[in-house]
Amino acid sequence: MPLATLRQVLDEAAKGGYGIGAFNANNMEQVQGIVGAAQEVQSPVIVQVSRGALSYAGKNYMQHLIRAAAESAPEIPIVLHLDHGDKPETCFEAIELGFTSVMMDGSLLADGKTPSDYEYNVAVTREVVEAAHKKGVSVEGELGTLGGIEDGHGSGEVHLTDPEQAVEFVEATGVDALAVAIGTSHGAYKFTAKPTGDVLAMHLIEEIHQKLPETHMVMHGSSSVPQELVDRINAAGGKLEATYGVPVSEIQQGIRHGVRKVNVDTDGRLAITAALREALNAGPSEFDPRAFFKPAREAQKQVCMERMRQFGSAGHAGDYKVITLEEMAKRYAGSAVAA
Ligand code: G3H
Ligand code: 13P
Ligand code: ZN
Repeated sequence: MPLATLRQVLDEAAKGGYGIGAFNANNMEQVQGIVGAAQEVQSPVIVQVSRGALSYAGKNYMQHLIRAAAESAPEIPIVLHLDHGDKPETCFEAIELGFTSVMMDGSLLADGKTPSDYEYNVAVTREVVEAAHKKGVSVEGELGTLGGIEDGHGSGEVHLTDPEQAVEFVEATGVDALAVAIGTSHGAYKFTAKPTGDVLAMHLIEEIHQKLPETHMVMHGSSSVPQELVDRINAAGGKLEATYGVPVSEIQQGIRHGVRKVNVDTDGRLAITAALREALNAGPSEFDPRAFFKPAREAQKQVCMERMRQFGSAGHAGDYKVITLEEMAKRYAGSAVAA
């Protein structure tokens, strides 16, 4: 099966009324954990690669690792997605590398920190859509900004998405998926108290879904930061502060109102860190790295399996046949939204 496009898997998720986890990967163990989870629960999956991941692993490594995983799991629709492209050139480079989906994050300027204005966002996003759709590649855009800055993809200020502007933005750019800002942020430190219904602006998701029922929404910063993982890390010598993530019930509410892509990076990092710390403590005389990386890979897999079940994507891998980029390009060329 070829690598799938974001457009196809999200269209199918909309038909089935579920969300798909988009899990960040930086190395082989994460790719194997994520795709292994998808195989175990028979879920479509989005593996996303940030600029940081590309620079850590080397540009070619990530796409080859994900292609290797796809060869080992031919029955699973797997999207290879660029997370938070900072400028059109980064997206074009990812497309050249074989990514089937890119995010043009024009909500921030190319420094990844300064909020941009609406006109800039439309211009860069549309430029990427025009080029990407010709090749059948999907594009995610973002309107509004997230709060966190700890990962370098955030302004530190929250600008929630304006539903009226979302309608204009989707119309003006032709994006396949729209990341919305509803008060989440990247990283482990999202909230200092358990977020109640008022902290996240879930009503915006409902409003946007009413205005744009055909648009697939994306929730960034959707790690739930399980207390159990924080406790295990600290019990094994870590020093994480008290923190709360996004409750899974809020994500499920979003999925009922048009959220189709759910971005999860931090939960995988926490699971890996807990497993590594425990394995290192348990085997002080051990020096074979496989003794540490094996439980880390399994921890990534377990957290992904849990999210796949919670987002409702488990069991849907075999619902459809993945279509090629060439076929997608033809569809864009024949459709009214083609750029
Ligand atoms: O959105 C951000 C992701 O968590 C990726 O973070 O740039 O540290 O790889 P990173
Ligand atoms: P988390 O830090 O909550 O996992 O968010 C990841 C994300 O949004 C990647 O784009
Ligand atoms: Zn993000």
